[in-house]
Amino acid sequence: MTMLLTDDERRMRDGEEGAAVAAAMDLLIRYGDALGAERLVDTRNVAGTMTQPSPAKAQLVREGGWAKAYAVINLDSDEDLDIPRMKVPTCQLQHGFSDDADGLTGYSTQSIELQGDAESYFSDRGVNILATCTPYQVGNLPVRGEHVAWMESSAVVYANSVLGARTNCEGGASTGAAGLTGKIPYWGLHDPANRFATHVVRADVRVDSFQDWGMFGYFVGEQVLEARPAVIGDLGLPDLTDLKHFGAATATSGGVELYHVPGLTPEAPTLEAAFDGGPIPEAIVYGEAERRWVYETLNAQGESTDVDFILLGCPHASLDQLAQIAYRLEGRRLHDSVQLWVMTPRALATMAARNGYTRTIMRAGGHVLTDSCPAMSRAAPPDTKVFATDSAKQAHYLPAILGIEAWFGTLDECLDAAVTGRWTGGLA
Ligand code: F3S
Repeated sequence: MTMLLTDDERRMRDGEEGAAVAAAMDLLIRYGDALGAERLVDTRNVAGTMTQPSPAKAQLVREGGWAKAYAVINLDSDEDLDIPRMKVPTCQLQHGFSDDADGLTGYSTQSIELQGDAESYFSDRGVNILATCTPYQVGNLPVRGEHVAWMESSAVVYANSVLGARTNCEGGASTGAAGLTGKIPYWGLHDPANRFATHVVRADVRVDSFQDWGMFGYFVGEQVLEARPAVIGDLGLPDLTDLKHFGAATATSGGVELYHVPGLTPEAPTLEAAFDGGPIPEAIVYGEAERRWVYETLNAQGESTDVDFILLGCPHASLDQLAQIAYRLEGRRLHDSVQLWVMTPRALATMAARNGYTRTIMRAGGHVLTDSCPAMSRAAPPDTKVFATDSAKQAHYLPAILGIEAWFGTLDECLDAAVTGRWTGGLA
């Protein structure tokens, strides 16, 4: 099937806005045809990745500059293209570590410099260098029903579920083409008919803390995989950080891109509405045994209780999380053999510095870092053997990525380990 194109889409395809836009439209048409999409849809909000350094990208930059790298990686084109300014608001998601991490890891200075070069090139072309997996924490807040083109699983599930925006989990090429055209294939979660719930998961144990929401999300994702759960039961009222953790966890153990919390999330005023008034399936139960299974799974890579690295801020920490960390570290000092990193968007790091949180965290011996995380940059403090985190996503991924042991627990357990060098966490 070939997609129907509007007049402006045909004009872009035929080169009236230049060769790069034509290449972008050609990519979107091929992509949409492969998906079986009938048409494209307008978007004015793209979140993708252009600046993340890699050996392949470095080679392309040597051959033909950033225009070459963008053409090959983001537009799937071998042509020599002149890359114009983005047609619609486009932001850079998380990328590699920046200069604030220089010297703290084995991450190369060349990669940091290459990324700085990319930031100059792409910001000149209208890319907003938000450099975070949580663009919604730093001003990129699409409205309900808005069609957006976002990458990054934890951001996609937040945009769809909490904000009620509409996006599939896009890639570097489709977002690269969307930024230059303001178009994305209309399929999947852009279509309201595909946004109703498919499963019910009921919590029979209380879910009422950051750790609880992460563990519940990990269970939900493991159960429903890429489907659309509605979650009910003994749920406290989650805040932004709880929902951020919950969604990231559902997208880690499964591939959830949209969930509903009846009475809370915008497209599910009731459980019945989440199912469009149709039949409601029998609930999958999250009870004490399931909760313990999640906890043990996330701690399965922990053996030694001698901890040398604490990682907080996955997904990137909110200002409130930074405040909580600072308050808990007031007057305390990290153990000599432990490093503490808190990941946050650069815009919030500015606020954390202004509010004194960074000073308190650094006085205790920790670091507030931006732009990336150990999983994205595949880097931790040198010689790390055992790390601890309050993030289900990092506990899941980092042992496999870096070959290190992992402990998963509460913020207090993580900070106690940072101060004592020993893991003493356990399921309450
Ligand atoms: Fe963000 Fe890295 Fe976690 S990109 S969601 S902090 S794995």
